[in-house]
Amino acid sequence: MKTNSGGGPGGMEGDLAEILITAEEIRRRLAELAAEIERDHEGRDLTIVGILTGSLIFLSDLLRLLRIPLRVDFVGAASYGAAIESSGELTVTKTLGLDVRGRDVLLVDDILDTGHTLQRIRRMIARHDPRSIELCVFLDKPERRRIPIEADYVGFTIPDRFVVGYGLDYAERYRNLPFVGVLKESVTGPGNATQG
Ligand code: IMP
Ligand code: MG
Repeated sequence: MKTNSGGGPGGMEGDLAEILITAEEIRRRLAELAAEIERDHEGRDLTIVGILTGSLIFLSDLLRLLRIPLRVDFVGAASYGAAIESSGELTVTKTLGLDVRGRDVLLVDDILDTGHTLQRIRRMIARHDPRSIELCVFLDKPERRRIPIEADYVGFTIPDRFVVGYGLDYAERYRNLPFVGVLKESVTGPGNATQG
């Protein structure tokens, strides 16, 4: 099949310095994660809440592996500031649609970085009186944490590098890469490729 996303000029993959996590590694890890989540929630009625837009790919792959009763909802969050640094200033663009009172909520995001986003959203959901709120993230960058918050389920723990793909964006691009990669400095600008 001919595609425009190969390593050639103008293709997305040509913008990458390296691939950090392959599609096959993601597939294998998600099977383990799904088994863990199933085991921990057997006999309970789960409400999964994804944070738009970054959780999109991770969540949709994870959902297809979960064979327990569940409902799905989304909340929207946008952080302003530079494309790479989460500023801590967050605008909620979509609130919960489902009633989660007395329910077990699993909040899903693409990456736990400074922790601002998940803390804000977790507080917002807590106001709806769920029975419990657990956190599930595809990636965890513990070195960058500024808020003391940990996820209950983590796909991969990664070093302090700015990554794209599998839902993660740089200026809203690269989300559709089926793996996780590191952008070349020529794309992000010098000094921006890694944070901190
Ligand atoms: P936090 O609020 O600093 O924890 O950041 C969470 C949000 O920042 C994520 O949902 C992403 O949208 C974004 N983010 C943090 N690190 C990266 C990265 O390496 N690549 C792409 N987006 C990132
Ligand atoms: Mg983002």
